[in-house]
Amino acid sequence: MNANTDWATQPFAYTNTGANVRCSFSNNQWGEVTVHADDIIPVHISATCLHYGQECFEGLKAYRGKDNAIRMFRWKDNAARLNRSAARIAMQEVPEEVFEKCLRALIENNKDFVPPYGTGATMYIRPLLIGTTPRLGLNRSDDYLFVMFASPVGPYFKNGFKPGNVVVERDTDRAAPLGTGAVKVGGNYAAALNTTLRVQQEGYSSAMYLDPKEKTYIDECGPANFFAIKGNTYITPTSLSILESITNLSLMRLAEHIGLQVERRQILLEELAECDEAAQCGTAAVLSPIYSVTDPANNKKYTFGNPDEAGAVCTKLYEMLTGIQSGDIEDEFGWITKF
Ligand code: PLP
Ligand code: COI
Repeated sequence: MNANTDWATQPFAYTNTGANVRCSFSNNQWGEVTVHADDIIPVHISATCLHYGQECFEGLKAYRGKDNAIRMFRWKDNAARLNRSAARIAMQEVPEEVFEKCLRALIENNKDFVPPYGTGATMYIRPLLIGTTPRLGLNRSDDYLFVMFASPVGPYFKNGFKPGNVVVERDTDRAAPLGTGAVKVGGNYAAALNTTLRVQQEGYSSAMYLDPKEKTYIDECGPANFFAIKGNTYITPTSLSILESITNLSLMRLAEHIGLQVERRQILLEELAECDEAAQCGTAAVLSPIYSVTDPANNKKYTFGNPDEAGAVCTKLYEMLTGIQSGDIEDEFGWITKF
């Protein structure tokens, strides 16, 4: 990446930046944080991450401001969620100090890969935790590898802040009622992958999943939480099988800040008929407006506003969120750490 890099058209894809960061846990303790140029990790053929799914991950971003400073957004929330994921699948938790040391080393060694201010691109950071002990019988790992790598990225959804279309998926579940939907483990994404590929081929940005028990309430979209604007209210689902999105939590605070009511509750799919705006939100997705939600099984299509332009509330929330992340808007909420 250099002065000629076209940051504005950067895809959401992996780039080898030449520096990733690692820390291993063995003999009941975390070791030193090390920096590596090689992006290959040696893993035992019988490691628990490969056979029994002992792996979890996170996603957060570094933002470059007009002042050229690099800002991290709510990284401690990602560190805490990583540990909720780890605990759920019997893995070793990563102390916040280890997470922070890795993050600082990663940024220090990848400064040139944090895209310039105003290009729309950001640096995505992917922390990954895997169980590395060889096991044949079903058991937890005693040893773990924590890796953090970075990649400059553009918007996750091709249409960026233009409204997209989603489709309700009824034939598969991404998560079970008391399964692992509330944590960020690879198995959730594997369970949804065939559906994700199919709906993308059909021209949708995402599949929308309903609650796996009743199949009546909205859960979330494949890679992002869901919210809608109904009159003066920001509504977003509660469910035991959705990932608690840090972006969604932030948007709820911002919605309150601009005088909206915020309701976190079960949302019947049919309630979409009464909503004015809808969107997906997440670190990769940022705030991605939805024009339509199609429910093929019931031959229904819910639409929101204008297919070519995001609604006024989504636009306002998007501007506030990205303004705080880039440093253009003062952070009154304590979300930003300058690195
Ligand atoms: N839901 C799922 C399934 C996700 O993969 C993500 C992305 O991390 C989100 C929601 C959004 O979470 P966050 O805003 O913390 O990135
Ligand atoms: C994120 O938004 O950070 C995610 O992990 C979603 C992923 C599908 C890219």
